[in-house]
Amino acid sequence: MIGIIGAMAVEVDGLIEAMEEKTPETISRMTFWRGTLGGTPCVVAQCGAGKVNSAVCAQTMILRFGAEIVINTGVAGGVGSRDVQIGDLVVASAVVQHDYDTSPIDGDKGRDLPLLGVSAIETDDRVSSLLAACAEEVCGGVRRGVIATGDQFISGRDRLHEIAARTGAIACEMEGGSIGQACALAGVPFAVLRAISDNADDNAVDDFPKFAAESARKSIALLLKALPRL
Ligand code: ADE
Repeated sequence: MIGIIGAMAVEVDGLIEAMEEKTPETISRMTFWRGTLGGTPCVVAQCGAGKVNSAVCAQTMILRFGAEIVINTGVAGGVGSRDVQIGDLVVASAVVQHDYDTSPIDGDKGRDLPLLGVSAIETDDRVSSLLAACAEEVCGGVRRGVIATGDQFISGRDRLHEIAARTGAIACEMEGGSIGQACALAGVPFAVLRAISDNADDNAVDDFPKFAAESARKSIALLLKALPRL
C-alpha cells in the first residue's frame, strides 16, 4: 500500500480522478481515498497546508491504512540562486524543518528533532531514485537536494536566502519535513516530489497562483508513471 499526500486540491485531485475502485473514508476531517492507481494499491489524501496537518495525515495512512511507503507530491518554492526555476521538478534527498529551533536554550543541538536526534531526515533512496529516473524519461530531468519545510509561505529574498544558506535547501514548502518526521518515527520509507510554482522571492505571491496548477499537474503526471515501478 502506497500513501500519497498533497496539501491542496490541485495537488491530489488528478490522482483521485485517476484512481480505480476507489472508496472514501473521512478521518480527522481529511478524506482518504483507497483504491488502485494503474493497478498499484494506494491511499490518497489532501491534508491541508502545514506541518501538523501533514503529520496527522501521514500517521493515519501508516496506522489506519497500512501504508508501507509514503510519497508527498505537490508544488514548492525554488531557490533561484541554486538554479531551481519555475516548472522544474525536485526530488528531496533529505528534508529539514527550517522553523524548528530551540537553540537559545539547547545550543547547536537545538535544531535536532526530538526523538530522532537529527536535523535532516533522509528520504528513501530507492523510491527517490526511481522518481528521478522517471523524470529523466518523461521531462528530461529533475533536481535532487534538500527540501526545507516550515509553517510559512516564503515570499522574500532575504528570508529565502537565510533558509537556503543555513539548510542547503534547493526548495521550500510546508509539509515534506513533517511527513518525513512522522514516517521516520514509524520506520516507514518516504519520498518528496515537488514541481516549482514560484521562487519564494518578492514575486512569489504573484507567481504562485499563476503556476501552481500547471506545476502540480507535472508532479502528478510523473507520479502516475512511477507508481507501477515501485
Ligand atoms: N509552496 C509553494 N511555494 C511555496 C513557498 N514560496 N513557500 C512555502 N511553500 C510553498
